[in-house]
Amino acid sequence: MRRKLAAGNWKMNGTAASLAELTAIAAAPAPSEASVLICPPATLLSRAVSAAADSNVMIGGQDCHVASSGAHTGDVSAEMVADTGASHVILGHSERREDHGESNEDVRGKAVTAWDAGLVTVICVGESLSEREADNTLDIIGGQLAGSIPDAATGDNLVVAYEPVWAIGTGKVPTLAQIGDVHDFIRMRLERRFGEGVGRTVSILYGGSVKASNATDIFSVSNVDGALVGGASLKAADFQPIIDALDAS
Ligand code: PGA
Repeated sequence: MRRKLAAGNWKMNGTAASLAELTAIAAAPAPSEASVLICPPATLLSRAVSAAADSNVMIGGQDCHVASSGAHTGDVSAEMVADTGASHVILGHSERREDHGESNEDVRGKAVTAWDAGLVTVICVGESLSEREADNTLDIIGGQLAGSIPDAATGDNLVVAYEPVWAIGTGKVPTLAQIGDVHDFIRMRLERRFGEGVGRTVSILYGGSVKASNATDIFSVSNVDGALVGGASLKAADFQPIIDALDAS
């Protein structure tokens, strides 16, 4: 009922040559249970969709504008992302929240636009190190969930990614108990707001320094339905074992 999802976020990495990594993932035997999503930079979306055709690898964007079109130089709309053939878009990644000052309200607006364009949104939440040290983790996550997710969420249009900011690209990973506490909390909040039927069907990914060597342990935690992977998604040789670990979990 809930999909297992291995999602790769290439961030601002990748040129045409990188599509060979995607082709290698697409050529591997399809996982029996896990779905695979790769989110390359916007410049590669169309070519990534072509490279993944005839495989079950899905392609997603990393952001979209809140408006569906207009005078916003350099930005990409949800309609444009969908027009490439992409099916998903990541929204509210902590790097967007930090580098571009995106608020929960911004993320919520973008999600509405993305849903209108037919995209599935991967909405990211996560606390900073100082917020964790001040014991504010669940307050922060609760506020981000309430503020960033629009009311029309369903298990089909929404995936939530829990990404502690201090674990992204640092090699630091929370304990399994810490991951479990936050994922259980997110599940509880989703069920409370959207009802058990919907709340139970939204996949919740963990993100932050996931790699082949820790994936199996992380996927054993309750309410972890997959991963959002940055650095270790850039090479097929690093990402494939994570997909396999999720499939076997
Ligand atoms: P990382 O990034 O796997 O490189 O830590 C995860 C993310 O930011 O999505």
